[in-house]
Amino acid sequence: MNRNFNICVIPGDGIGKEVMPEAINILRAVEKKYNLKFSFDTKDWSCKRFNEKGAMMPDDGLEKIQGSDAILLGACGFPGVPDHVSLWGLLIPIRRKFGQYLNLRPVRMFEGLKSPLKNREYGDIDFLVVRENNEGEYSEIGGLLYKDTPEEMAVQQSVFTRKGTGRVMHAAFNLAKGRKRKHVTSATKSNGILHSMPYWDARFKEIAMEYPEVSTDQFHIDILSAHFVLHPDWFDVIVASNLFGDILSDLGPAITGTIGIAPSGNINPERNYPSCFEPVHGSAPDIAGRGIANPIGQIWSAAMMLEHLGCLEAAADIVSAIEETLRTSDCKTPDMGGNSTTQELGKVIAANL
Ligand code: NAD
Ligand code: IPM
Ligand code: MN
Repeated sequence: MNRNFNICVIPGDGIGKEVMPEAINILRAVEKKYNLKFSFDTKDWSCKRFNEKGAMMPDDGLEKIQGSDAILLGACGFPGVPDHVSLWGLLIPIRRKFGQYLNLRPVRMFEGLKSPLKNREYGDIDFLVVRENNEGEYSEIGGLLYKDTPEEMAVQQSVFTRKGTGRVMHAAFNLAKGRKRKHVTSATKSNGILHSMPYWDARFKEIAMEYPEVSTDQFHIDILSAHFVLHPDWFDVIVASNLFGDILSDLGPAITGTIGIAPSGNINPERNYPSCFEPVHGSAPDIAGRGIANPIGQIWSAAMMLEHLGCLEAAADIVSAIEETLRTSDCKTPDMGGNSTTQELGKVIAANL
């Protein structure tokens, strides 16, 4: 098995720069323990760079990192640069150029965390949001017409392809097959959205037939969001379009206590490009610079990266250290109801490895 990995590290903006060092410390710790070797190639690609040089990354940025074994990203976007400029200048090109069409966002209720929902505790919430990551509602197709006139209009085209819907749904069913409950929920909105969502439903129905051992249901996104709050225990794997998956993957961790713990993997399943691992959260400008961000989303993302790279024991060890820390320690950042710092929590997790 390969034990030497070149990791492209992009801390990015805001709290991304604060949580990344904690993930790197953890990786350095498992490196010794499991006889691995990481070479970190750290890039300063960010809004700060945009303000200094006029671009989030160099013109040949993606070519430079495409030989990496994986990318570990913090967060991207900060006030001062319009969000669509920063995100379409860095994160979204990474997802698209590297064929990372599968976005995996696990949601779990940990022991030691308090859910904002009444009567929900450890074990009640354990699902996986499988988000389509390359098409759907996120597209460059569209524009403004008759700008600065009374007829001004904005057009934004959604794109749902046979290939794009098929590959994400197949992935969701294959992942469900390996889980205890073997259940897939489709997030739709085929009552109000006339073309793309009935197409999504038809594709779901067609692909579900290939997996008789997996049970299914589907909900329109409005009531599905409500069910996340009222019946989070109903869900196992949820397959969703780019936008619906984005929304559900903030709501999911929020009902487990905090979005600060949520990890994600932007996966290129064919492995002809690096995959990119990043917390679900953003740069949190409201708390950035204070050293109080929760580093767990970043650390768990690093564990997902190791799993993808085949370092299964090291990955499981990191997740266990997170579990043990939340279960046994009072060291919690403010989003989890405590008053510890990012670094203090990072140290306790490292000590629990
Ligand atoms: P956000 O996730 O940055 O913050 C939302 C709220 O959650 C804030 O109150 C924040 O303090 C809190 N929060 C988030 N992560 C936390 C953590 N680790 N610990 C404690 N509290 C945490 O979302 P936003 O405010 O909508 O976006 C801010 C910027 O980040 C924008 O520029 C946005 O475009 C960008 N963004 C980037 C990514 C990404 O890089 N993948 C994801 C989401 C948002
Ligand atoms: C996420 C983020 C991004 C997305 C934004 C910042 C473009 O919200 O990774 O969840 O919508 O994909
Ligand atoms: Mn999001």
